[in-house]
Amino acid sequence: MTSVAVVGGGIIGLAIAWRLQERGADVVVLDDGEPGAWYVAAGMLAPGGEASHEEPELIRLLAAGNERWPAFAAELGVDVGYDDTGTLSLAMTADDLAAAARDWTRQKLPLLRPSELREREPALSPRVRAGVYSPAERQVDPRRVVAALRDRLADRIVSKRIVDLSEVAAPTVIVAAGCGTAALTGLPIRPVKGQVLRLRGEPGLLRHVLEAAVDGRHVYVVPRADGEIVVGATQEERTDRTVTAGGVHELLRAAIELVPDLAECALVETVAGHRPGTPDNAPLLGRHDERVIVAAGHFRNGVLLAPITADLIAGLVLDEVADPLLHHFTPGRF
Ligand code: GLY
Repeated sequence: MTSVAVVGGGIIGLAIAWRLQERGADVVVLDDGEPGAWYVAAGMLAPGGEASHEEPELIRLLAAGNERWPAFAAELGVDVGYDDTGTLSLAMTADDLAAAARDWTRQKLPLLRPSELREREPALSPRVRAGVYSPAERQVDPRRVVAALRDRLADRIVSKRIVDLSEVAAPTVIVAAGCGTAALTGLPIRPVKGQVLRLRGEPGLLRHVLEAAVDGRHVYVVPRADGEIVVGATQEERTDRTVTAGGVHELLRAAIELVPDLAECALVETVAGHRPGTPDNAPLLGRHDERVIVAAGHFRNGVLLAPITADLIAGLVLDEVADPLLHHFTPGRF
């Protein structure tokens, strides 16, 4: 039986380990107990909204990743907050609209008038100028997903902080340690700080995931069925985890401009984390050396790409073939 150690117990490492276990491998997850980017993430499954048209290979990977989510969520067999109501992408001003229009045209999404938008989402501000509806952009609750994966893997998860891969005895090692992958492999992964808020309001206040440009500021608002509303996110080239007054102010100002009723919600959590960014902001997926495989650097798309990363890396380990989807993302490209 193939024996594999996965370094990193975040959403990527756990998804890979689960897929390997399902396929019959003897797998262990080495987890340092630090909550990773998944803990902060809102869980938007946004293949169109999180890549630019200059990145066709990444767009292809994100779209393929999105297609795997319905089956992955169903297979987990518990409620992980998978919700396919869809996303409204919105522009508040003429300048915001001009900036968004190119992406919306690329995605072939028809422009909706303010009245059509408010029909779908009555709580939207009357100031919203235009928007589009993306039925394929959905959401999931990453904290529930990680809890479900931990449950599935149970005694295969070992609390251990790895500082050097020579500490790991297994013949195959998968490094899925997010930002920590850099120190273990020497690969260029940098932390990109994101501050995120969690509000609590009446369930049903919002129906869709909203992502918007509000006077040049990008904000997203992700409503859960139980009344939790996640508001994100700053994007800062910083290594600290401080939640700043300016960060909170910026997010709340944009979110409340977009949906005035959010001002009545309770602010229940403020948190900051780090997205693992790479020089081209695309993930590092594939063989690092004869023993070590890397699955890291997912930047803004770790949740979206968890199922497909699990399938591709499990295939690489167990079938010893690299799916063509992996070719553009080899760790050796830097
Ligand atoms: N995927 C959203 C973010 O990274 O903020």
